[in-house]
Amino acid sequence: MKIIKCTDYEDVSQKASELVIQQIKINPKSVLGLATGSTPIKLYDNLVKAYQRKEISFKNVLSYNLDEYIGINREHSQSYYQYMYKHLFSLVDMNKKNIHIPNNDEKQIDKITQLYNEDLNKHQIDLQILGIGSNGHIGFNEPGTPFENETFIVELDEQTRKDNKRFFKSLDEVPKYAITMGIKNIMRSKKIILMASGIEKANAIHKMINGTVTEDLPASILQRHPDVTIIIDQLAGSKL
Ligand code: F6R
Repeated sequence: MKIIKCTDYEDVSQKASELVIQQIKINPKSVLGLATGSTPIKLYDNLVKAYQRKEISFKNVLSYNLDEYIGINREHSQSYYQYMYKHLFSLVDMNKKNIHIPNNDEKQIDKITQLYNEDLNKHQIDLQILGIGSNGHIGFNEPGTPFENETFIVELDEQTRKDNKRFFKSLDEVPKYAITMGIKNIMRSKKIILMASGIEKANAIHKMINGTVTEDLPASILQRHPDVTIIIDQLAGSKL
C-alpha cells in the first residue's frame, strides 16, 4: 500500500485528481470505477475543471459505479444516479452509453445484480476510486461480507444508515438496502485509490492499514491488492 499523507480535504482531492487526470491522459479509453458520498465531490469538481481547461476528455472513458440505493428511484435527489450526473456526468463530455450505474428498479430486482455483474466482468477497471465507511466498508460491503462476493444486494449496516442520515430528512428515510459491487469485483481492478478525510475515518484507516485482514473490516482486504494508493488527510491519518 502506498500512503499519501495530505494536510486537509482540499489537498486529498488535489492529489487524487492528479492521479485520475494522469490515468485519463495515459489512456483516454480508461475504465474508471467511481464512488459517491461526500469524499469524492471535490475530486469530481477538479476533474470537471481539467475538462474545461481541455486537459482531458471523457469522450472515450467508460465508467462503472460502485453502488446504488434500493428503495428510492433514480429520480430521487439522493440516488447515486442523480449524484453522478450532478457532480460529473452532466458537466463533462461523457458518452451516455459508456456510463454504468447499478439499476435499482425494484421490479427487476431478481435480474439486476446478475446483469450488472456480467457487464462489469466484460471489462477490467483500470482505476477504481474508493471512499471508506466509518465501519470500514468499501462500496457497500459491510462488515461480515464474504471477500468472495461479486455484485449483490446488501442490507445496510445501522452505522452506515446513521452516517448517511445527513443526506435525508430522517433516519427512517435512509434506504435499508443497496446494490453494490462485491469485494471480488473491486479487487479485480488494476489500480485502486482510496480517499479519506476527517476524524470519523481515523479508526477504520488505522485498522485497514495496520490490522489483520478480516471480513470484519472489509477495507483490510486492500492490503492484498498489488497497486493501492491511500490518500488521507491529517485527521483521517491521526491514529496511524
Ligand atoms: C459510495 C460508497 C461508500 C462511501 C463511504 C464513505 O459510493 O461506495 O463506500 O465511499 O460510505 O462515504 P462518505 O464519503 O460520504 O464519507
